[in-house]
Amino acid sequence: MDGNAKLSIVDVAKRAGVSTATVSRVINHNGGYSRETEEKVRRTIEECGFTPNANAIGLRTNKSRCIGVIVPDVTNEFFAKIIQELDFYLLKHGYSLLICNSNEDYELENMHIKGLIEKHIDGIVYISGQNEIKNINEIKHIPVVYIDRAPLNARMLILSDNQEGGYLATKEMIDKGCRRILLLRDVRCASTIRYRKEGYIRALKENGIPYREELEVSCFPDYAEARKVMDRLVRSGGCYFDGIFATNDMMALACINVLMEAGIKIPEQVKVVGYDNVSVTRFTSPQITTITQDTRQMAIAAGRTILRMIQKKEISEKRTIIPVKLEVRGTT
Ligand code: RIB
Repeated sequence: MDGNAKLSIVDVAKRAGVSTATVSRVINHNGGYSRETEEKVRRTIEECGFTPNANAIGLRTNKSRCIGVIVPDVTNEFFAKIIQELDFYLLKHGYSLLICNSNEDYELENMHIKGLIEKHIDGIVYISGQNEIKNINEIKHIPVVYIDRAPLNARMLILSDNQEGGYLATKEMIDKGCRRILLLRDVRCASTIRYRKEGYIRALKENGIPYREELEVSCFPDYAEARKVMDRLVRSGGCYFDGIFATNDMMALACINVLMEAGIKIPEQVKVVGYDNVSVTRFTSPQITTITQDTRQMAIAAGRTILRMIQKKEISEKRTIIPVKLEVRGTT
């Protein structure tokens, strides 16, 4: 045989003395063969330098060994960390990850779902910007795990304990003397934000501090928009606050910069707590007190769940809550 000829699964089967179906099962870790057969087939594959044609295998087994992940913003470190850990976990289990960026736009989410279905992906890990998945019928035959956000009609969920996160962030400031804590939240108010607000209110209530509507401000959750809102608030001087709970770290960074530029001392005059514990929280002076979401555990739980769904194995927990952690630093 020409050493350069592209070897097929048939050539490998002949050399190993087994059927092509056995070679395919060994390649796809599908079981139904002895350890001795598996070692013989893998040795033959290595000796021949055979590379399985994933597309051909996908057509035959209707399994692409690809998982799609849909995230709102790949440039946001929180989502990037989820992707990184999920990719590593799935690679170790013989799966590839197809990354889809949605900007939390319903149309883009839809387009990505259509594209993933056409590519015969085996499952989807989905961080949706929708409070209710409108096109749920399109994906009801595909294993889907929803993480981070909790759309109302989602069945399989991996979430951070965001209610506890909002509570810990607010209680940290109350314990350090704050009594008028501003809640600066994402204007879109996905489930993550609603739960963080619930925790904020629980901490206030537990300490006999009334919730004040004028101390809740919202904006698009990026640095620039948070700066605009905080600039207006500080310049107007119309709203007195001695603490700020920002529902992500980039918004907290904006708060710190606006306050310090206005000559306000942090944490002496105003304390600030962010959320996510992205790397920028350690690059500021003072460093930002924040809430760590365990992106590694979220990704591993999502990876483990989606593979069990693909393998049609029983899944006891339909809603997994991953604990969060308060990281106390210089802004409190
Ligand atoms: O910074 C992005 C935020 O949106 C994170 O807090 C994450 O929970 C996501 O929902």
